[in-house]
Amino acid sequence: MPARLVSVINMKGGVGKSTTTVSLAETLALHQRRRVLIIDLDPQTNASIMVAGPEKWNTMREAERTLDFYFESYIVQQKPKPFKQLIESKVSDLKGKPEVALCASAPEFRIVERDMIENFVKRGFQIDMIQKWICERFANGVKTVINEYDYILIDCPPGISLFAEAALIAADAVLAPSIPDYVSRLGLISFRKRALRLINERRGGPSQLMVLATKYDDGFSLHRSEAQLLKDNLGEAMFDVRIPQHVDIAKAAEWSDTPRTFDQKYGAMAPIVAKLGEEFLAKVERAPAL
Ligand SMILES: Nc1ncnc2c1ncn2[C@@H]1O[C@H](COP(=O)(O)OP(=O)(O)OP(=O)(O)O)[C@@H](O)[C@H]1O
Ligand SMILES: [Mg+2]
Repeated sequence: MPARLVSVINMKGGVGKSTTTVSLAETLALHQRRRVLIIDLDPQTNASIMVAGPEKWNTMREAERTLDFYFESYIVQQKPKPFKQLIESKVSDLKGKPEVALCASAPEFRIVERDMIENFVKRGFQIDMIQKWICERFANGVKTVINEYDYILIDCPPGISLFAEAALIAADAVLAPSIPDYVSRLGLISFRKRALRLINERRGGPSQLMVLATKYDDGFSLHRSEAQLLKDNLGEAMFDVRIPQHVDIAKAAEWSDTPRTFDQKYGAMAPIVAKLGEEFLAKVERAPAL
């Protein structure tokens, strides 16, 4: 069966998209024996560096195996770079070599996106044609590796970009991490509307849009009530598991040169991250629902 594409996305920044992408990938690979590919679509490169470490990421970058080179090769060369060549397998610092692979990003990705748009605008392309072009090239690349994984998790940049929209359109399911507070809820409602409209317009088929409460503080009554409100409104689309605001989640982001066990990496948060993986599979591997 081809991999399911899951975009981890929220217009709001700093809500835990990259952290969720990496921790979910690791628990799916380690505990659930799924083969997972992380595609880092964010020029901030957070997920790339978190999951592969700064040295390996740098080596990939020097070898021109980052996403910016893939899209650039489409524009400047007749023959695009094979998407498969970008992928580095078994990147995680967890013991047991779980099947987490990475298609890395680089800061230059921002410049490539800008240059691409400029180039197309000069040639008289409309924005929706550029969007379509990006979606097609992205999908063409992903297609070549889709049978090698069970899940492809796409870590999206915050805000709105043509690449984030391409990830939204390509996705079989969308996972939106969200901090359970009022401001985030407002953002989430507008994002959800836009996402569902885009998915329906462009693909016509059903897709899943799931929400995960992140940076959750149980001692904060606002967080408790907002998370409950989301659950009441979203029902099954809302994860029961909530990711606490906890130093062990923040610390897990730092690469370790010495391989570590899941418990060593995620500390007190290990059972919660494992639960996230279980609940994710229960949601995604059920019949698709909106
Ligand atoms: N549950 C958590 N507890 C403590 N710190 C967290 C938690 N989740 C994320 N963080 C920290 O918050 C910061 C933002 O997290 P992260 O980079 O995952 O968010 P993001 O949504 O990907 O951000 P961006 O929009 O910039 O891509 C990071 O420093 C991360 O280590
Ligand atoms: Mg991020």
